[in-house]
Formats: sequence, C-alpha cells, structure tokens
Amino acid sequence: MSRRRKITIIGAGHVGATTAQRLVEKALADVVLVDIEPDMPRGKALDLWESAPIYGYDSRLSGTADYEATAGSDIVVITSGIARKPGMSRDDLLRVNARIVKEVTEQAVKHSPDAILIVVSNPLDAMTYVAYRSSGFPRERVIGMAGVLDSARFRSFLAITLNVSVENIQTLVLGGHGDSMVPLPRYTTVSGIPIMDLISKERLDAIVQRTRDGGAEIVKLLKTGSAYYAPSAATVEMVEAIMKDKNKILPCSALCKGEYGLNDVFIGVPLQLGQAGIEKMIEVVLTADEQKALQSSAETVQSLCLTVDEALYN
Ligand code: LAC
Repeated sequence: MSRRRKITIIGAGHVGATTAQRLVEKALADVVLVDIEPDMPRGKALDLWESAPIYGYDSRLSGTADYEATAGSDIVVITSGIARKPGMSRDDLLRVNARIVKEVTEQAVKHSPDAILIVVSNPLDAMTYVAYRSSGFPRERVIGMAGVLDSARFRSFLAITLNVSVENIQTLVLGGHGDSMVPLPRYTTVSGIPIMDLISKERLDAIVQRTRDGGAEIVKLLKTGSAYYAPSAATVEMVEAIMKDKNKILPCSALCKGEYGLNDVFIGVPLQLGQAGIEKMIEVVLTADEQKALQSSAETVQSLCLTVDEALYN
C-alpha cells in the first residue's frame, strides 16, 4: 500500500488557506495547515474538510500549531510573515520576516528532512535565501514562488488587451519579485506568434509596467492585505509539477551558481520542476539589455541578503 502524500503549509492566512483549498480540490495530497496558535488553522482545515463531500475529494486536512503533525511531509510551503504596516520600512519587514522564516524553516525541516521547500513569504527572493540557509538543504529543494505569479499577471493582462484566451499566451518573467523583475517580451508569444507582431510597443510597455506593479495594484485595492488568489494558484502549479513529476518549465526563484553569470544569489530563472524539486535550471539566451536588467535585479536581492546575514547569521 502506498504511503499517503503530505503537504504542510505554514501560515494559515489568506495565501496559506487558499493554497490548502486549491490543493485539496485537486486532491493532490493530505494537507497540514500550521500557524502560531492551533484553533484558527484547525478551524480552516475543518471548514475545508466539511466541503470535501460536496467536491468529492479524499485529501485529509488538519490544522495545528505543533510541528510534530507535519512529520514526513513531501513538500513544505512557507507563507508566514507580516505585511508592511504604516511607518514600517522595507528593511523592518525584511528583518521581521527573516526571523519568522528562519524559525519556521528550522522547525519544519527537523520533522521533514527530505521535503522540498516552496517559499512564498516576502520579500520573496531574500526569504527563499533564508529558508535555504536555515534548512541546510541542497539548492534543488529550496524554491521561491514568484515568476509563475508574475508571468500569470503578464499573461492575464495580455489576454484582456488582445481579447484572446489566456491559454494562448506563453511568457517568461525573470529576476527578483519586486520592482526590478524582468518580464521578457522577446520570449512572449500568442499561440506561437511573437507578441511584438500583435501589439504596439507603447501598449506592451504599459502592460510590462502594470505587471511590475501587479502586487501593489492589489494591495491598493484590498487596503488590508495583499493578493492571495493568484499567489496560491501559482504555488499550486509548482506543487503539482513536483508531485506529478511533470518536468514542467516554470520561472521560480532559485540559487544561481554561475548560471546567467550570477553567483550565490536567489533570483527568478526558468526551472524544470519534477519529483526532485529542481530537475534542471535552464539558461535562456539574453540580450545585453536583458542581462543587465537581470544583473541589477540580482544586486537588489544581494543587498537584502546582506542585511539578513547581519541580522540573523553573524
Ligand atoms: C504580490 C505579493 C504578495 O505580488 O508579493 O501580490
């Protein structure tokens, strides 16, 4: 009899709970929702389980504050952290979330030493670095969710503008998850047709900018938090690629070791995701301008990681 597969989600807020919902609705695995105190994750897990008879899934759910219950997870998704409040600098958020991500990573890997970690907490690339350092895992098993979300936003805006199916649009968004992200129009097609043949440069530039600002646009509308429907959908696409060993090429944050001329930095690049986590990192050919943009995005991430090093590891 095969062992049931298990996914732990740390942080039962909007992103964590919506990820749990999407995972069980696809019946991908049993899900353990973890938060600081047990009642809230227990309540959300129970509520989701009570919808199982209607949706027809047999994935079991539990909610807890106890990491014992997460033992033997195949994948651990880390969504913990606080959102920026008025008066807080980006550095404040960085330091607070770095501490949280360090702690939850240490707890999680103690009980699931063979898991693959998917980091969703912000600032994304720096938090993925924290999970990498705190876990001691090889780079194949520490992956950040960013490029799938940013690419999905780019695709969704292009689909509306061109009035075509979202499924027709393929693209790559590389770089850090933030202002410095690097959407690549040159690698963007509509059912194989180069995007530049279908849209003016001005309109494309505007959509690229809206993609960069995609997270902020949602924050501004919600007022009390950040996006979670698209982030959870992006996370689940990564989980599914791993659980089903699809070898699916998706842009995600990963540790570059010389690829793209970048050393020891977490940044969004195309990865082939399968059962080992990162099966392969793919180096696409970049123009000098694209390479420069990726380099400068990497420098932004590197400076955040230096702050993290000083705060946590020195
Ligand atoms: C976003 C934030 C959550 O892009 O990173 O929506």
